[in-house]
Amino acid sequence: MLADGFGLNGVLLAAMRTDYCGDLRADQVGETVTLFGWVDRRRDHGGVIFLDLRDRSGIVQIVSDPERTPDSYPQADHLRNEYVVKVTGRVTRRPEDSLNPRLPTGEVEIYADQIELLNAVRKQLPFQVSVSDTESVREDLRLKYRYLDLRRERMTRNLQLRHQVIKTIRRYLEDVEGFLEVETPILTRSTPEGARDYLVPSRVNPGEWFALPQSPQLFKQLLMVAGCDRYYQIARCFRDEDLRADRQPEFTQLDMEMSFLSQEEILDLNEGLVCHIFKQIKNIDLSRPFPRLTYAEAMSRFGSDKPDMRFGLELVDVSDLMQDSGFKVFSGAVATGGLVKVLPVPGGNEAISNVRIKPGGDLFKEACEGGAKGLAYIRVRDDGEIDTIGAIKDNLTEAGKAELLTRTGAKPGDLLLFGAGPTAIVNKSLDRLRQCLGRELGLIDPDQINLLWITDFPMFEWNADEKRLEALHHPFTAPHPDDANDLKTARAVAYDLVYNGFEVGGGSLRIYQPEMQKQVFETIGLSPEAAQNKFGFLLEAFEYGTPPHGGIAYGIDRLIMLLAGEESIRDAIAFPKTQQARCTLTNAPSDVETKQLKELHVASTASPPPKTV
Ligand code: AMO
Repeated sequence: MLADGFGLNGVLLAAMRTDYCGDLRADQVGETVTLFGWVDRRRDHGGVIFLDLRDRSGIVQIVSDPERTPDSYPQADHLRNEYVVKVTGRVTRRPEDSLNPRLPTGEVEIYADQIELLNAVRKQLPFQVSVSDTESVREDLRLKYRYLDLRRERMTRNLQLRHQVIKTIRRYLEDVEGFLEVETPILTRSTPEGARDYLVPSRVNPGEWFALPQSPQLFKQLLMVAGCDRYYQIARCFRDEDLRADRQPEFTQLDMEMSFLSQEEILDLNEGLVCHIFKQIKNIDLSRPFPRLTYAEAMSRFGSDKPDMRFGLELVDVSDLMQDSGFKVFSGAVATGGLVKVLPVPGGNEAISNVRIKPGGDLFKEACEGGAKGLAYIRVRDDGEIDTIGAIKDNLTEAGKAELLTRTGAKPGDLLLFGAGPTAIVNKSLDRLRQCLGRELGLIDPDQINLLWITDFPMFEWNADEKRLEALHHPFTAPHPDDANDLKTARAVAYDLVYNGFEVGGGSLRIYQPEMQKQVFETIGLSPEAAQNKFGFLLEAFEYGTPPHGGIAYGIDRLIMLLAGEESIRDAIAFPKTQQARCTLTNAPSDVETKQLKELHVASTASPPPKTV
């Protein structure tokens, strides 16, 4: 039952908001204001009622008592958290002893002449929404009741940050750099970005399917053929891939493409944009040009093409020292085309116990997650002597030991962790260990911003499952002009932007001649017929005067996650999907009527999922 005065017919006859709650300041003392919002918190101090009134701008304190505000008091008395109200009152300076310097509105309070209840909360809240509530809430609850979660301060802040970043990007690209925003189709053909497609059956074309775009890659290239010159779009992309903390099946790119620019010019323009974002959003001046590493150097020094360079812990290749070692794991790795690398951990002898690096230990498991079969180590004791497993010790000469310590820079008290085997596995497992230890040993300054370009990616990598080369970036990337006579091993004119160990953007110069495009299709095992069938429209477009062009796309959600200091991409998105690619708020995906499937000429082979309540 709702008490009297709960306006149930729900039409605002005289709204007239004068201010947002969070904007009120001392220079408005004496004004009468009308505010709308939610009761963040209600406190009763011996007959005086204090309400924190909240809207998206923040909070202001409302006061009501039987003497000074007799008209509003009865209403204030029965308000509860999250009730929606209209308040009209006088802006008053708070008494000296109740100023709140932590609140932007902390110098004032509003004496409520009138409080009108617009809507009540009828069910128990699944969690507290109040800014004063610091308890963390389970993510499944936050996602199910996302509209409540979005009322909370943290998510309100993140949404506003996202809006500001996108607004800043639009202003810069349009007003400073002359970009044109063009929308590209959502119902389209599959674009090869390496993930599975989300498919949409066509009702009017039985048996045929649209794919949702993994990116607007082909359309933006066609826009260059069309003479658009500088294109951008805040583009929704869809990829059906395994989810991680920084991946969503549906995500947003800042997508850009430019004609007649060199790689240098594209990187320079993008540094201008990124610096502008950091200046506007964080008031930080980044220095330019951004550092660059080639892919080869990044892999060699960090085992990763997105190294977090806020800390050291660089890897050292010791294959040449180990290739003749009697320790089979090492010599065998080198003999079969792999390598032996070391992750030197300063102070690691004491900081990291044997339990952690032996089978079953957390660091051992971390290495195995990266594909390693084991984790060899050497401890450099304080007296300079080494402790290690017998098989290494037995096969290490004094000279070999000295060379190893010099090469790795190891000092007494350090720990050397080894990776031996196929290059990709060694890099992956040592990269995982490096990141773990960087965090654990407190080597990362969370306030530091590390941005760098990775360049000169290889054109192709070997897909062992399908036994063929596949494009590392995508098959529209141009080969490095110095390498064009051996496409298989060529470097690409491709670049990624890495921000504190996350890939936030990636792009390339494109192939713009049909002959080269056909060669690349052939190299990835696409027959001329298949290439014609899938990309005939692109090859044909290239026949009609295509300008040299290139571009880049940024992961907006990832960028916001990092700028907001969040660890999950879901905290940068209003309505994200769960790790299981579901929307628990609307309970999508869901089953559909058989009639709908029939109309779409689709029959499901799946057994129906168990009904969830
Ligand atoms: P790429 O596939 O590298 O390039 O994507 C560009 C950027 O998009 C972000 N990103 C994602 N963010 C969240 N969830 C995902 N599942 C996801 N996948 C990618 C990353 C990445 O750097 N068409 C090319 C760009 C180009 O060549 O211009 C492309 O899409 O931050």
